[in-house]
Amino acid sequence: MSGSPESATPGVFTRSADLYDTIYRFKDYPAEAERVHELIAARRGPGAPATLLDVACGTGKHLEQLARWYGVEGLDLDPNLLAVAAARLPGVPLHQGDMTGFDLGRTFGAVVTLFSSIGYVRTEARLRRAVACLAAHLAPGGVLVVEPWFQPGAYLTGRPHALFVDEPDLKLVRMNASAIEGHLSVLEFHYLLATGAGVSHFTERHELALFTAEQYAAAFAAAGLAVEVDPDGLTGRGLFIGTWAPGAPRPTSPDAGPDAGPDAGP
Ligand SMILES: C[S@@+](CC[C@H](N)C(=O)[O-])C[C@H]1O[C@@H](n2cnc3c(N)ncnc32)[C@H](O)[C@@H]1O
Repeated sequence: MSGSPESATPGVFTRSADLYDTIYRFKDYPAEAERVHELIAARRGPGAPATLLDVACGTGKHLEQLARWYGVEGLDLDPNLLAVAAARLPGVPLHQGDMTGFDLGRTFGAVVTLFSSIGYVRTEARLRRAVACLAAHLAPGGVLVVEPWFQPGAYLTGRPHALFVDEPDLKLVRMNASAIEGHLSVLEFHYLLATGAGVSHFTERHELALFTAEQYAAAFAAAGLAVEVDPDGLTGRGLFIGTWAPGAPRPTSPDAGPDAGPDAGP
């Protein structure tokens, strides 16, 4: 295991940070950012600033695009991914932090958490803390966009997966067999990497919770947000979109101390 379910997952991409953009080169970040902007623009209140915080920003490829419309900032747990983002985005404020307990001391017209990063929180208690933190960083009239991980039943176990990179100076294969342990999907990635320096093998264990739509919606409601569901979203995984519920009190940060109380579990 990579730690108690109540602790932050350590930087799971730390070993592969330099490979991240190569591995995920199939993703159409410009098109995804366009769609995210359309969704925000249709909902952002007139007083909300044209600023955006990308939480779990990874290497900053959405931020790079979203900077066309917003003053952007990013936050991620993993310092190695943030280093890649910093090289890509000179002058953009980037923060190291855990989405379940951060406080930047200011608010944004939009907050986004994309590419299923929310699944890494692993427990429902931490999901609620994360959504409360995201909501607390929204200015009045702001919009929260969360791209979820798979829901229970949609993630199939016992399937082999492989991703191949074949470039002149870099050969890479990343393989795993899908597995489920309790409410967690477990992706034990095996990397085999060839460069001019030689061939190396390493593994990374990724654990993402299979939260239900009801659990996501309840976390938004508990944070004081009205929630809409876009079943298709950016990549077929759907989107949860939050706006301040009419008459609801301003969302507030959760207690940033140690996790409070036992996790109800999914
Ligand atoms: C699949 S990557 C997505 C990165 C980026 N949003 C993208 O679309 O390329 C998941 C990201 O979640 C980050 N992450 C995982 N747990 C986190 C946490 N508790 N707080 C902040 N970031 C976290 C990882 O470091 C990683 O950058």
